Parts: sequence; structure tokens; C-alpha cells
Amino acid sequence: MPHTNSHDHIDAMLHETRVIAPSEEFQARARVTREEYERRYRQSLEQPDQFWSEVAGELHWTKPWEQVLDWQEPHAQWFVGGQTNVAYNALDRNVQRGLGDKRAIVWEGEDGEVRTYTYAELLREVKRAANVLLALGVQPGDRVTLYMPLIPEAAVAMLACARIGAVHSVVFGGFSVSALSDRINDAQSKVLITADAGYRRGQPVPLKKNADVAAQNTPTLEKMLVVRRAGVEVAWEPERDVWWHEAIEAASDEHEAAPLDSEHPLFILYTSGSTGKPKGVQHTTGGYMVGTYLTTQTVFDLRDDDVYWCTADVGWITGHSYSVYGPLLNGATVVMYEGAPNQPDWGRFWSLIEKHRVTILYTAPTAIRAFMQHGDEIPGRYDLSSLRLLGSVGEPINPEAWMWYWRVIGGERCPVVDTWWQTETGSIMLTTLPGAFSSKPGSAGVPMYGVEPALMTREGEELGADDGGLLVIKRPWPSMLRTIYGDDERYRKSYWGEIKGVYFAGDGARRDADGYYTIVGRVDDVLNVSGHRLGTMEIESALVAHPSVSEAAVVGKPDPIKGESVVAFVLTQDGYTVDPTELRAHVSREIGALARPDSIIVSDALPKTRSGKIMRRFLRQIAAGKPIEGDTSTLEDPSVLERLAATPPA
Ligand code: WT7
Repeated sequence: MPHTNSHDHIDAMLHETRVIAPSEEFQARARVTREEYERRYRQSLEQPDQFWSEVAGELHWTKPWEQVLDWQEPHAQWFVGGQTNVAYNALDRNVQRGLGDKRAIVWEGEDGEVRTYTYAELLREVKRAANVLLALGVQPGDRVTLYMPLIPEAAVAMLACARIGAVHSVVFGGFSVSALSDRINDAQSKVLITADAGYRRGQPVPLKKNADVAAQNTPTLEKMLVVRRAGVEVAWEPERDVWWHEAIEAASDEHEAAPLDSEHPLFILYTSGSTGKPKGVQHTTGGYMVGTYLTTQTVFDLRDDDVYWCTADVGWITGHSYSVYGPLLNGATVVMYEGAPNQPDWGRFWSLIEKHRVTILYTAPTAIRAFMQHGDEIPGRYDLSSLRLLGSVGEPINPEAWMWYWRVIGGERCPVVDTWWQTETGSIMLTTLPGAFSSKPGSAGVPMYGVEPALMTREGEELGADDGGLLVIKRPWPSMLRTIYGDDERYRKSYWGEIKGVYFAGDGARRDADGYYTIVGRVDDVLNVSGHRLGTMEIESALVAHPSVSEAAVVGKPDPIKGESVVAFVLTQDGYTVDPTELRAHVSREIGALARPDSIIVSDALPKTRSGKIMRRFLRQIAAGKPIEGDTSTLEDPSVLERLAATPPA
């Protein structure tokens, strides 16, 4: 059994036996019935070419593909020889289908400002932005970094890149200056798109100011395009900086989407792995488009009159696939909200749902647990009757939070779909299609079309139902990552090299007799804090970069709201004292506030084997306040454990 970092949740999940069926009414109208799922799932595995051709054929291609899949493990090419454009399919195609006047984006700022774009308006903006990028010298294949608040311009910028074949790399606005410059440098971006500032809990977040500092260190960066969001004063370099609104106003709204090879790179998105350096996960055009299109439509049971809200920021894969690409490819009305869930209070989400008559809500367990903690009374003040479907993503959802979501938010009327997937998978892999399957609180569910999961040992031995093991995927799927940008060797090793012949997800899981998978957590040194992936090594490198720290080890500790919280064990550098407040601020500056350790334990030694390997297993037990279990005889000095356990965390 792989180790995992949230034992309490697992215990609860192992004992969970509830099964919640969708209502008769939902089933009767569902886009996908159980029979339909069984038939199409079988087809997707037995006749994949036919299956994927049918799906891809619903979208527009300027040149048809010659071959559905070319698989030279570990490299896949999908819809080989085909040409298409994702932005064309998301916008021009929908306008041509008569959706020009339909609302594409309904955006609400944290300050309550509302802006709406119809499909025709969004298309016009994206055409203008595409012309702006071209005028700045951006060529197909060039990388463009985005460091933006969650405003419509972020989606416009992504789609404009897609339209001209530039590769976007969105860096979450909560990341620090050095995280930003590292990502610009790794991608060798030419252009950075940012904003003067964004809003978070009423405070302007100085994005342009951070970008200016980052840009002192980014030799490839030529231009900075700046959206005026907050109206705050910013420094200006006339040779380099361009106001978005001025450039857009001056740009022509005529632009033909570039026909791009199906395997043309669409975007890079950095995520944490088990080494200190984040991985630039690379996705391509055709397969990603087909995967997000199909899953959004089926998993969310999308219909013409839905008002769909995925709360994820565009800085994460969920924001890429399910706030922007997937729903727009389906011609849906997408709600976007810029700010925090508790601004001005914990009723903000519910007020948004009431106001915009949201029908589908897709959010993270950490948010659900935070709402739950503030009681049933707050959501009870709002009219949530427009909701008909709820989704969860990002981390295991504990059955208590699931039941609360279903009962209090969904009024026991809306199916709850848990969805397991990853930055690397591009689109949803495991879920319970609503209407076709019952849900089991805490269990992610069954494979989506074309997904062939299995549980294995490290040695590649396949396990049966009720055995816990490593979650793997046995064949390529269209929206899977193609490589790690600039590091194909790492791609080979991390995903297709861990266990021979299969994709290694890095998660431990179990499967029940009905074929439902329950994810128990990461099996590598990756934490999941509030649904965000953090590498322990990244945080450790940040810690040891501080002069007062000579060595550091970071582990996760189960947290009732965040899922996991960051616990840092640090050794003091001779001649210094560790100031926990300063050290937290330092990690924020190095990575971002989300990586800030909740507890810091200052010590004189770490539990190491004679060969010098840190035994994190014991550190996890100490962090969780649990008794030490396991063989401590391999430790060089087992007495370290007692001293650590006796040290109060700061
Ligand atoms: C890791 C991927 C793709 C969604 C956003 C996170 C965990 C994700 C679930 C779920 C249990 C989940 C896994 C996975 N995870 N969704 N429904 N149930 N665990 O994407 O940052 O790439 O993280 O998040 O551990 O490997 P990500």
C-alpha cells in the first residue's frame, strides 16, 4: 500500500458505503444514459479510431487527419496530419452555429462590477488581441507568459494565442516574482501579458510591479502588455510596455484563425513534481481540444440554457480546461468570478449563483469544507434553486463534505460528480457521469471514454478489486501531455518510465466491486494543499535559500480545511537564529503565499538513515502528532525522533 498524507480522510472513505442515485427526473433528461455510456465506453476501447473520429468530427478541421493515433511509446500523436484551430472552434464556429448573441462570458469582479461578452463580442476581442500579438512580433510557436487576475482579458489572451499558434504559459497571479521569472526563463517567453493589479480580499495585488521585478532577470522578454484593471499607478518602460486597451482599440477586428497542425503546441502549464524544479507540462492542439470538448459536454450534462460556473483560476489546469476551453468549445455560458469566496463574506458564491442563475457549479473540496465550517445558515439565505448539477475537483473529497455539498448546496436534488484528473491528463479521467451512475461519496468513480485505468504494484503487477495500489493508465488518450517543455527525458522517466508500458499518475487508489476508484492521495513527494500541488523539494529549496537555515525537510499534515498543510522541519545555520515569521515571509517571496509553512519545527537534527536519506515517513507521523510507527533501526540516531516530537511547532 502506498503511503499517503491524509489518513483521516482515508479511514472515513474506507468505511463509506452510501450510494446516492440521481433523481428520476435527472436520469430521464440526462445527455448520457447508462446504456449509452456502456456502449460508447466499449467502443472507445475496442474501436478507438472510430470512436475518436466521431467525436473529433463534430468540430471544425481545415484539413482532415490521416491517422487517429500514432503511438511510439512514450510519444503520442493524435489526429495526425489534421489541421485545426482551437480558438476558431470555440468562437467562430459557435457564431456560425447561430450563437453570436448568446452570452459566452459573464464576469463579476470582486468589487461587484459585471461585464458580459456574447460569443460575437468575444470573437471580436480575440481577433483584435490576435492582431496585437502579431504586431508585437509574436510568431507561431513563440511562448507568451500570462500573469493575470481572473478577468475576461485572461481568456481573451489565451484564445488570442491559440488563434495565432503562440503557446501560452499562464502563471497563477498568486505566484511570487521569482516563480514568475523562473517560468518565463524556462519557457523563453518573448511577451508577458499582465495587469496593473488584481483584487484579492479588497486589496490590489500588484501584478505589474511583480512583473517589473521579474523582468530584470528575463533576457528573452521583449514586450509587456498591460491590462488596466485596478487603475493603480504603475512604473512604465515606454520601449517595452504597451497598454492592452490602447493596443486593442487600435487593432483591426479582422483576423483569420491560423490553421495549425493537430500536434502544434497549445500551451505549457507549470506544475510541481518530486524534484525542486516545476515541470512545464505541454499540451497540443487537436487532442486537447477533443478531450476537453467531450468531457465538458458529458460530465456536466451540458445543455443550451445552462449557466456554467467553474470557480478555478485560469492559473491552474482546471481553469484552462473547464473555465475556458471546454465550455467555450461547447458554446456554453460561462460565469467567471475574480475574487475570494469570502469577500465580502462567506455568502459570496451563493449570491453569485442566485444573481446569475447558475445551473452547474464546479469547485474544490477545500472551498466546500470552508463553507461547511461557516454553517448551513449562510447558503440558506440565498435562492440556489437554479442549480441542477455540482462538481468537485482537485483533491479527495471527504464523505462529510460531499454530503454537505449535496444536501445544503444541491438541496438533495443535484447530482454531485467528483472528477479525478491532473494537469498532465488535460481532461477528466474518472467520474460518475450524472444520470448514468450513482455517486459514492468520497469515490471519484469510473473511467471516462477511452480511459483504461488499472491498479499496479511498483513492479507492474496488476492488482484486483479491493486491493490498494498505484493508479496507472494503460493506453494514451487524446488530451494527455506530450512532453515536459525542454526536458523530454524527465517526461519519459516520470510518466512512462516508472512502470513499464503504462502512464504512472503518482496517486494511490483502490477499486471496489462496482469498478469505482477511490483516490487515496499522492505517492510521491508532492503535497496537495487546498487543491494545489506543491513539491516538498521546491519548498525545501526555498527554505535553505534563507541564510538562517542549513537544512530543511517538508512534509504534509492532514488539515480539516486545506486537505493538507505544509510542515517544515528546519536546522539552524551556525551563528543564526530562525525567525519563523521571517521564514514564512521568505517562502512567500520565493514561491508564493500558498507554499507558506503552517508549522515550522526548529531542530538540531533530522531523522536520517546511515546513508543520509531523510525518513519523511517519521516526519509525517510527528507532524500529525501521531505515535512513531515503523522500523526506526535504520536511523543513524533514533533519538532524534523523540526530540522532534517534543519540540513545539512555531
Ligand atoms: C492531483 C493533480 C486536475 C484537477 C486539479 C488538480 C489530486 C485531483 C482529484 C479528485 C482525488 C484528486 C490527485 C492528482 N486530485 N482531482 N477528484 N479526487 N484526488 O490538478 O494540480 O495537476 O493535481 O490532484 O492527487 O494527482 P493537479
